[in-house]
Amino acid sequence: PRVGVIVVAAGSGTRLGQDAPKAFVGIGGHTILRHALRGVFAAPEAQVVVVAPAGREGEALTDAREAAGARAELVSVVTGGATRQASVAAGLAALWPAVQVVLVHDAARALTPPAVFERVVDAVDRTGWGVVPALPVIDTIKRVDGDRIVEAVDRSQLAAAQTPQGFRRDVLETSYAIAAEEFTDDAALVAAAGHRVAIVEGDVHAFKITTPADLERARSLAAPIPA
Ligand code: C5P
Repeated sequence: PRVGVIVVAAGSGTRLGQDAPKAFVGIGGHTILRHALRGVFAAPEAQVVVVAPAGREGEALTDAREAAGARAELVSVVTGGATRQASVAAGLAALWPAVQVVLVHDAARALTPPAVFERVVDAVDRTGWGVVPALPVIDTIKRVDGDRIVEAVDRSQLAAAQTPQGFRRDVLETSYAIAAEEFTDDAALVAAAGHRVAIVEGDVHAFKITTPADLERARSLAAPIPA
């Protein structure tokens, strides 16, 4: 395939307050990772690299094979690193030679609809730029100094970034090769390397499961996975 999807699932998920690493917390009898992969495999065909926490590779592979169905030969699992950036780098190293466009996706955005994947790949193909799905910011945002409000930030200049973020493979690889610090996301890393990045429309269902309230919301929204 000419598209590769790196699904980063190697985080600990401390803020979720569950025993298992976040990607293995349950939603309706299946893991967060399994739900995330349902969206990935409902999108157009791609190589899928799952980046798992050390010691959890076997479980990740089981989830991935199950989600892949007839596409099981497109799946591989690699071990993640101490930071998200290190985990993405591990995924990059596992891409096959034919892959030209790479999407990096948080397993924690487990309910991301397949249409978002398509939108991002289309925009990368059309522009050659990095592409980030994003939504307008709903809340009024304040810049603060301790508990003192310094100013209101103009919302029209803000967008909330989601994943999958898509890039030409050469752009992402060269950007990772020269990255000298930790960036908050792949878009920031690629922009710091001098490449252009644009937004396309995100989706409310692509929210990141981070807190117990997010988990509750995901559990109420997730469609059951058929046996
Ligand atoms: O912690 P946070 O929710 O921001 O992580 C975003 C995504 O990055 C999650 O899907 C998580 O599993 C992944 N991650 C990773 N390796 C790390 C840290 C986070 O794959 N060391």
